[in-house]
Amino acid sequence: MRIGTPLSPSATRVMLLGSGELGKEVIIELQRLGVEVIAVDRYPNAPGHQVAHRAHVIDMTDGDALRQVIEQERPHLIVPEIEALATDTLAEIENEGIAEVIPSARATQLTMDRAGIRQFAAEELHLKTSRYAFASNPNELRMQINRGIGYPCIVKPVMSSSGKGQSVVHNADEVRDAWDFAMESGRVNRGAVIVEEFVHFDFEITLLTVRALGPSGEIETFFCDPIGHVQRDGDYIESWQPHRMSISALAQAQEIGKAVTERLGGRGVFGVELFIKGDQVWFSEVSPRPHDTGMVTMVTQSQSEFALHARALLGLPISTHLLRHGASAVIYGGVEAQGIVYEGLEDALLVPETQIRLFGKPEAHVKRRMGVVLANANTVEEARSRAREAVSKIRALAAETAE
Ligand SMILES: Nc1ncnc2c1ncn2[C@@H]1O[C@H](COP(=O)(O)OP(=O)(O)OP(=O)(O)O)[C@@H](O)[C@H]1O
Ligand SMILES: [Mg+2]
Repeated sequence: MRIGTPLSPSATRVMLLGSGELGKEVIIELQRLGVEVIAVDRYPNAPGHQVAHRAHVIDMTDGDALRQVIEQERPHLIVPEIEALATDTLAEIENEGIAEVIPSARATQLTMDRAGIRQFAAEELHLKTSRYAFASNPNELRMQINRGIGYPCIVKPVMSSSGKGQSVVHNADEVRDAWDFAMESGRVNRGAVIVEEFVHFDFEITLLTVRALGPSGEIETFFCDPIGHVQRDGDYIESWQPHRMSISALAQAQEIGKAVTERLGGRGVFGVELFIKGDQVWFSEVSPRPHDTGMVTMVTQSQSEFALHARALLGLPISTHLLRHGASAVIYGGVEAQGIVYEGLEDALLVPETQIRLFGKPEAHVKRRMGVVLANANTVEEARSRAREAVSKIRALAAETAE
C-alpha cells in the first residue's frame, strides 16, 4: 500500500459519488492522509464539494455522464455515498479495470434498491427479515397485504432513502394514500413498492461492520459497538453509542453483519440496520458505506466511521475501539430558504462536552438535516440529554429574518 502526493503525477485519487454530510467527513479523512479527492454531486456547493480538490455536478444516474467524469478524472478508487447511481456503469468501469468501486460494484448494484437487498438477505442468505412483498399498483398492494402481511404494515418506494415516501398502513382504507405517497416521493420512481410486516421491536440498532486489512494480512471483519437510534418519519433524529443489548442478541447481530458484508465483499464500512425484540434479531437493510446514525462515532471512537472507511478503502489497518459514551442529535432546517444562518451556537456549546457540525448545505428545507450536535458523557443517557439540550438552543433562520 502506498499513497502519493496530491496534485502530482503520483497522486492517489479517490472520487466520491454523492458529496453530502457523510461524504464530506470521508473526504476530510482522506485529505488528512494526503489523498487527492474529487467530489461529485447533483447540485453545486454540496457539503463535500467544499472540502475536495475538485468538484463536479452531474446526474449520477446517467451512465454516460458518470463514465465521462470518471474517464476525465481517472480516480483509482470510486466511493459511492448514495444509492441512486448508474450502478451498471460502475460495474463496467470496474470490469474494464479503470477504477475500483468501494466496497464493490456488485455491492452497489445489490443495495441500490430495496428489492435487491431484501431478496439477497432473505432468499439467498436466509436471514430473518420482516415478511415482505412487492406491488406495482394499488390493487396488487391490497392483495399482497391480505395474502399474509396483514395490518399494520409499512409501504415504501422500492427506491428511496431517509424514509421518503414511507408510510404505515393500518387498514384497507389507507392503502391508496400509501401508494400515492410512495409514488410521489420515491427519488427515482420505479412504479413499485415494497410492503413489509410492521415489526414491533424493542429497539433498533445500526451495527457498523468494517471489512479491512487485518493482522493476518487478509481482509477481516470488525464490529463497532452497537449504535441505538430514534427515527421519526423514517429519518433519524437521535443516535447514541454504545447501545446495551443482551449477549445473545449481540452475537446474532454480529453473525448477520458478518454474513451480509462477506457476501457483498470488498473493503469499507457497512451500516447494518437491525431490529431487536428480546433475543430475536431481524435484518432490515444495509448501507455499503458509513451510516447517518454513525455520525456519533466522531466523538465516541478513536477512529470515526469516516476514518474507518478512509483507512479500510485505502487498504490500511483499522481499530474500532470505543473511547467514550456519546450521542448525536439532528439540527433541522426548520425553514424553506437559501443561505440560512444559525444562531444560539454559543449557548449550545456551553452544554458540557458538546461539538457542532454544520454541513454548509446551500439550501434549507423544514425537514432537511443541516447539521448535528455531538455530545459525550459518562453514560449514554447523559450524553443524549446533553445533545438534546444543545440542539434546543440552536435556531436556523432565513438570512433576512436574522438580526
Ligand atoms: N418493517 C418495519 N417494521 C417496523 N419499523 C420499520 C420497518 N421498516 C422500517 N421501519 C422503521 O422505519 C425506519 C426507516 O426504514 P428504512 O431504513 O427501511 O428506510 P430508509 O428510507 O432506508 O431510511 P434510511 O435511509 O434513513 O436508512 C427504520 O429505521 C424503522 O424505524
Ligand atoms: Mg434505513
